[in-house]
Amino acid sequence: MYLPKAELHVHLEGTTKPSLLRKLAKRNQLILPEKIFGPDDTYQWKNFQDFLHVYDVSTQAIKTPEDYYDITYDYLRSCAEENVIYVELTSSPNHAELNGLCYQDHLLGISKAIEQAKNDFSIEARILIVCVRHFGIEKANRLAELVACHPHPLVVGLNLAGDETRFSAKDFSQAFTIAMEAGLQCTAHAGEVKGAESIWETIKHLPVSRVGHGITAIDDPTLIAEIIQRNITLEICPTSNVALGVSQNFQNHPATFLHAQGVNITLNSDDPPYFDTTIGKEYTIAEKYFGFDHATLLNVTENAIKASFADKALKRALLNLIL
Ligand code: ADE
Ligand code: ZN
Repeated sequence: MYLPKAELHVHLEGTTKPSLLRKLAKRNQLILPEKIFGPDDTYQWKNFQDFLHVYDVSTQAIKTPEDYYDITYDYLRSCAEENVIYVELTSSPNHAELNGLCYQDHLLGISKAIEQAKNDFSIEARILIVCVRHFGIEKANRLAELVACHPHPLVVGLNLAGDETRFSAKDFSQAFTIAMEAGLQCTAHAGEVKGAESIWETIKHLPVSRVGHGITAIDDPTLIAEIIQRNITLEICPTSNVALGVSQNFQNHPATFLHAQGVNITLNSDDPPYFDTTIGKEYTIAEKYFGFDHATLLNVTENAIKASFADKALKRALLNLIL
């Protein structure tokens, strides 16, 4: 049965399949270490920290506006094939900068591909800019200022990702305040590899209406009540959580309980080729393991659109497509 989908949590650089990454590396005359690749168009890593390291290494091959165009268009095409109508792409100008690409050129490649994909597949996409915890506080503050000084119609939000174990949310409150005052909406990864206290800290110190992952909330009933009361949406990434070992399996994934408690959740692929997943597979997992029927899955899409950072007119248009 036709099921329209929406995705709010996917890292643009992390959508690059190894086959495309090898092409970009060749085009940019870069030799990538072979050990980052697994068999059959996959990546390989040992644990969460090593995953972040492999991610940083592989991203070195994405160097030009054309590269960003290619990865964005490739991802949106595959989303459209799975009946995705809206995607928020989290992109990392700080990774691009390390590879010699300035903020504007980075955005140029992405936004051209978003426009082309809209023309070709009627899919809508918007951009979230990400601060990477392990790149440090100063970089995050400077990035937030850059984003605030150069408003772009497709850039609608700020995200926080990277190594949750080494930098806490509070460290990034200045960057998030700058973004919020510039009119951006905010989300942050928390409660992925750290406990419920990291989610408390995030919702106390950052102006977020969503949390990326947030699955360790399951250990704290007071926090669950707070999340519901504040109408905070959890961007759930089931396959990522199992692949990174933060959830043992799909059967016991916290999403089932959190959803049953009344927490607003969305379904997401995070870094699809790293975890051998797609957004379509995430919906199928929710059907198979969380017991979500067609109406519930449609409701997940509806709630994702409502919790998205799209403007009111786009939200209305997307909701009209599905309701
Ligand atoms: N960057 C890309 N994927 C990530 C994840 N799952 N957690 C934190 N940072 C990330
Ligand atoms: Zn993520």
